[in-house]
Amino acid sequence: MTREEQLQLLQAKHAEAELAGGEDRIKKQHEQGKLTARERAQRLCDPGSFVETDKFVVHRCTDFDMDKKRFLSDGVVTGYGLIHGRPVYLFSQDFTVFGGSLSGMFAKKVCKIMDLATKTGCPVIGLNDSGGARIQEGVESLAGYADIFLRNTLFSGVVPQISAIMGPCAGGAVYSPAITDFIFMVRKSSYMYITGPEVIKTVTREEISHEDLGGADSHATRSGVCHFVAENDENCLELIRQLMEFIPQNNTEDPPFKPTADPADRREESLKTVVPDNPNKGYDIKDVITAVVDDGHFFEVHQGYARNLVVGFAHLGGYSVGIVANQPAWQAGALDTEASKKGARFVRFCDCFNIPIITFVDVPGFLPGSAQEYAGIILHGAKLLYAFCEATIPKITVITRKAYGGAYDVMSSKHIRGDLNYAFSTAEIAVMGPEGAVNIIFRNELKEAADKAATKEKLVADYRAKFASPYKAAELGYIDEVILPEDTRPKLIAGLKLLQNKRDQNPPKKHGNIPL
Ligand code: HXC
Repeated sequence: MTREEQLQLLQAKHAEAELAGGEDRIKKQHEQGKLTARERAQRLCDPGSFVETDKFVVHRCTDFDMDKKRFLSDGVVTGYGLIHGRPVYLFSQDFTVFGGSLSGMFAKKVCKIMDLATKTGCPVIGLNDSGGARIQEGVESLAGYADIFLRNTLFSGVVPQISAIMGPCAGGAVYSPAITDFIFMVRKSSYMYITGPEVIKTVTREEISHEDLGGADSHATRSGVCHFVAENDENCLELIRQLMEFIPQNNTEDPPFKPTADPADRREESLKTVVPDNPNKGYDIKDVITAVVDDGHFFEVHQGYARNLVVGFAHLGGYSVGIVANQPAWQAGALDTEASKKGARFVRFCDCFNIPIITFVDVPGFLPGSAQEYAGIILHGAKLLYAFCEATIPKITVITRKAYGGAYDVMSSKHIRGDLNYAFSTAEIAVMGPEGAVNIIFRNELKEAADKAATKEKLVADYRAKFASPYKAAELGYIDEVILPEDTRPKLIAGLKLLQNKRDQNPPKKHGNIPL
């Protein structure tokens, strides 16, 4: 073969691979508002940086005449590229080839990328769009999934793993994304479920649509499976790129520093009045967060789920931080089962990847009620407690208002290794709210009082003056400093600088046993 012929052969193979399942299927993909697997890979990475690997791989199946149906790449585009100049590895399932279904060779390609990513300490991003196990390959496909699940698990906490669901993701296939750190879903074109509407109808007679059962909004608001909802493919890939601005390459690196023109000593006047005088009135904690962080940019995670707790990423003085905050504007910020799970998972992610955590506290306690008890608030609340306790990254806490009862301890208090614990002068740190406390301590006095309302009012006022402040905790050293709200940003940035070289360790163990 001449050099010219060799070149032609190579070009022909590239062209064949890029044609994937054929023009008709590519057209169908586009008509559904979806990009192809290669287009997604290219758009996710910095322009021109995506390098494809294993492009000429084909499956080995001969049953069902499959030897006559072979497509180069075999339904998954794998490779590496740059995001904001930093290397990432990715796989992008190609629905135009056997519906993106997973064969033995497909799984080998994905595993190869995951292994290389971990060896070189780089994030893995999976773009999912697949009909699940390649039915013609049977158990070989199941084995391939298990090989991926094992790697998802072993590499968890070593390199960040991110999943985007950009089409179907059903059956056991959902468990690979589920083990990864973050799941993005595209509204209206993606769905995830263990069993689809047809099976559900047969087994339970329940009738439900794909979208209601496993669409982006269902998982972003009800199940909590989905962390980010995107409007379309382009938006999804852009959101993944945004997330990458906050997270490091692996567990041995610090997150990327993002220089900012926002002054570190900026005092924020709006914070003077953000906490209402009336302790029973809500306010939006996101007003505090955006006022404090660099350029007002807060990248919220799990926005639609457990809205009584806000979590997300931001930069402070250029440092990447994770923010956990009670939300007084939603359910008075009380912690419930869902908020506890949401917070615990986020705190553990930050701890895995050396991202300091800033905790804003305004919490009246755990949400009371039989519904919460039966839903396991004891178990799930313990997750959040455990996560904060075990975290060794820098932890800075700001109590803006209420810090009551067990929730005070849980929310990154001094006692569970908070490094710098601040309180606004408006803080109320106590075992419970004044009303509840008075009802219990002065039960008899209240029964006997001639004017019950006036007596109670006075007792509540006395209790509030004595305990509903930051000063008792400050006397005991549980609060390092009572600060003016407008000084929050300078205090936090100075704190982050101070804690840059923090070293802390947990006792050696195989692994802990977080209450799951
Ligand atoms: C082989 C598959 C396939 C699969 C789809 N195709 N899924 N081929 N194995 N799992 C093929 C179709 O035959 C078709 O080929 C092409 O992909 C596109 O599929 P359509 O059905 O035309 O697309 P659409 O109408 O959009 O429907 C998408 C779909 C449907 C809802 C995903 O294809 C579907 O229900 N597929 C089967 C899903 C399934 O039961 N998977 C196995 C689940 S068990 P042509 O040649 O016509 O283009 C599982 C276990 C995992 O996944 C366990 C892990 C532990």
